[in-house]
Amino acid sequence: MKENIRNKKIWDLPLRLFHISLIILVIGSILSAKLDMLNLHQYFGVALLGLISFRILWGFFGTYYSRFKSFNLSIIDALFQFSKINSITSVRTPIGCYSTLIFIIALLSISVSGLFSSDDILYDAPLAFLIPNHTSYLTYIHNILHYLLYSLIGIHIIAIIYYQFFKKMKIIQRVIDGYSRIEISNIVSINEKPLIGILLLLILTFLPVLILLFF
Ligand code: HEM
Ligand code: HEM
Repeated sequence: MKENIRNKKIWDLPLRLFHISLIILVIGSILSAKLDMLNLHQYFGVALLGLISFRILWGFFGTYYSRFKSFNLSIIDALFQFSKINSITSVRTPIGCYSTLIFIIALLSISVSGLFSSDDILYDAPLAFLIPNHTSYLTYIHNILHYLLYSLIGIHIIAIIYYQFFKKMKIIQRVIDGYSRIEISNIVSINEKPLIGILLLLILTFLPVLILLFF
């Protein structure tokens, strides 16, 4: 796509691959758990843990909008995000930034607690043997946290529908091809070299799966 004020490149390829992989692994984790396939569930779970580790690293080493430094975390801006006088002046909205951080913390907590969980019958997670006295507590946390995840995903989908169809910002297109379609002059156009990011994403996602398979 040609670059002008309306369509500057904002999301790098590794971030877009992160998002699609996240959707696949979250759905895989939830389905495999609900179908009681815990042996399969652990592979989805550790891959997700690796993927989230990638996102954290990418928050420091990625391109401009992937970096946490570009996040607008102003509480005042967040409170007035939907007010009529507030027009959108940035690619990263404050509530969007908070929700990304909450997603990361929630998914990290679910995956880590999962590593120490047990179904008390047939399956103990790979690290449950390390702190056997705390297994039931951590399993409880693991089971509760996924309801938080459902709520976050629900709110996320409602927000996407709002910006896509009511604000007509075409944000679904931009998470697919990386190009912004909004007319704001202060958008930073990123200049990406995606290979390192893609390699890092693949290594961090598949390494935990391989470790679990072979050790
Ligand atoms: C790090 C890897 C993970 C391991 C080893 C793991 C392990 C487990 C275990 C042992 C259970 C059964 C608990 C019980 O029987 O009470 C379970 C349930 C579950 N896990 Fe995980 N988990 C992991 C990651 C995840 C992730 C990332 C998600 C969500 C994105 C997730 C979602 C669930 C759900 C929805 C259940 C079913 C809870 C219910 O009974 O309703 N797990 N997991
Ligand atoms: C399992 C379900 C999902 C999860 C956990 C999830 C999570 C996330 C996260 C964490 C981000 C922030 C990306 C970052 O900066 O790291 C994001 C962005 C985004 N998500 Fe999702 N997502 C899910 C499903 C979907 C679906 C089904 C759609 C719609 C087709 C969608 C559309 C978007 C869009 C358009 C953005 C970028 C928003 C923007 O450009 O400002 N997501 N998602």
